Amino acid sequence: MKIFLDTAEIEEIKTAARWGVLDGVTTNPSLYAKVGGSYDAILADICKITSGPVSAEVIADDVEGMLEQGRHFAKIAPNIVVKVAMSENGLEAISRFANEGIKTNCTLIFSTNQGLLAAKAGASIVSPFVGRLDDINQDGMIIIRELAEIFSLYNIETEVLAASIRNPLHMTQAAMAGSHIATLPFKILQQMVHHPLTDKGIAQFKADWAAAHEAAAGKS
Ligand code: E4P
Repeated sequence: MKIFLDTAEIEEIKTAARWGVLDGVTTNPSLYAKVGGSYDAILADICKITSGPVSAEVIADDVEGMLEQGRHFAKIAPNIVVKVAMSENGLEAISRFANEGIKTNCTLIFSTNQGLLAAKAGASIVSPFVGRLDDINQDGMIIIRELAEIFSLYNIETEVLAASIRNPLHMTQAAMAGSHIATLPFKILQQMVHHPLTDKGIAQFKADWAAAHEAAAGKS
């Protein structure tokens, strides 16, 4: 499963890239608002750090507006993927982007049928929001599993991206459900790295190493 960071924070993206675990990045207007500045400049900086897909979200409601914004983002770097929210106009924009060879990520997917339609329209990626479904007492992971199965059954090339990941368990569950990609906040990536027994074990090894050296120095 590919791992994307769900952030517009450049330092977080640089860190994950240095760890060798970064396959791409997703941004959205809310994540951009946390950082501020020029969205174009942020996207350009992110695309210099990773050659993987970088999602840039359009905010227009009408098809022509979506196309204009998406074409603009697509010129920033070859790895930009235009993020389009699920809607009737969104489907039309996705279909037209596909005809132009511009990759899209259909976002705000909350049902298997929405994901199926987005794939039919030509989306490269569909993004079911697992955490937001869990928030309303629905098992978001079911959508991930169903879409992964359907795409495999019908040889659909669209990738399933588990979005709105809220904890490390979601990552394991998304991988087990056959998600092609999961995007997560940097904090959850850090949580995946750490385990109390690992940290305790490292401290113990260091203490034993120091004690052994002290003992050896005492003998010589
Ligand atoms: C995905 O591309 C979205 O940006 C993101 O995962 C939404 O997550 P949230 O529900 O935590 O805002």
